[in-house]
Amino acid sequence: MEKKNLDWANIGFAYRKTDMRYVSNYKNGAWDEGTLTADDQIVISECAGVLQYSQSCFEGLKAYTTEDGHIVTFRPDLNAQRMEDSAKRLEMPVFPKERFVDAVTQVVAANEAYVPPYGSGATLYIRPYMFGSSPVIGVKPADEYQFRILTTPVGPYFKGGAKPLTICVSDFDRAAPHGTGHIKAGLNYAMSLHAIMEAHRHGFDENMYLDPATRTKVEETGGANFLFVTRDNKVVTPKSDSILPSITRRSLVYVAKEYLGLEVEEREVLFDEVKEFAECGLCGTAAVISPVGKVVNHGQEILFPSGMEKMGPVTQKLYDTLTGIQMGHIKAPEGWIHVIK
Ligand code: PLP
Ligand code: COI
Repeated sequence: MEKKNLDWANIGFAYRKTDMRYVSNYKNGAWDEGTLTADDQIVISECAGVLQYSQSCFEGLKAYTTEDGHIVTFRPDLNAQRMEDSAKRLEMPVFPKERFVDAVTQVVAANEAYVPPYGSGATLYIRPYMFGSSPVIGVKPADEYQFRILTTPVGPYFKGGAKPLTICVSDFDRAAPHGTGHIKAGLNYAMSLHAIMEAHRHGFDENMYLDPATRTKVEETGGANFLFVTRDNKVVTPKSDSILPSITRRSLVYVAKEYLGLEVEEREVLFDEVKEFAECGLCGTAAVISPVGKVVNHGQEILFPSGMEKMGPVTQKLYDTLTGIQMGHIKAPEGWIHVIK
């Protein structure tokens, strides 16, 4: 298979159309058999549920070329499960988990030429998504849905790669108490757009959102969970009902305990504690682990001892171990690696 001639090291995190995508339609209470298609255009009613009432959810995972030349994905069963949770919360039909993993497999195999080579620093980002496609005008769920998966080759999510980020404490909330913060609903991202643009306009890379009820606890950013490291090398990660249960974070907690022998605390994290930590990172599929060097809260700066030049030592070990598992040079826990070919 000849790879596309792309400048893999410099593609950035942007949409680039690939050859094939997967599509399945839900009608009269059932999903059709699904198919791969070259057609990247979608034609739906002007009154479709997704257009009027934002009935949509999505997932994000990546395909990697391993050191020995296989193409693999990382824990796609967990994305399937989370999409099921999102769908249920949004009154959408569930796309069956086995079919989700099979569709991911098909669409990655069909776009093999776009899976970046081992060592290039790039990966194939996989974006499963679902939306209400039939017309609704009263506020209610649509009757018909489309499930699709697109793929696009990507580089690092944050410009500057592994350079520590500067983030600010947002005055906006990302999620409501008892709302939709724990699922991957498109609406969560729509409402974060103003906050992220404001952060960028003020020179910050990302927002730190606080818990919406008391605004005293750390939640997450617009697209990643937080990991902190204490001065005595404990890993601490916020626990909250209104953050997305990151698959990367859950995997890193396991890696920290089982591979690195570190102590891990999953608990509420007060913003007041942040200044005590030695390292801070953002973790997610797109972010992998992106180090944070500085948090700014209305002009008050918290500078982590790990500094603005490189990742802290514990963050680096977590990063190396996780990416080593994904790229196939560290043995993965049972069931983590799904081989496409
Ligand atoms: N938090 C938010 C809001 C996200 O959008 C994402 C990305 O998927 C994450 C966390 C990280 O989750 P995961 O590690 O499953 O990609
Ligand atoms: C991901 O990490 O897959 C996400 O969906 C985050 C998004 C901000 C790109």
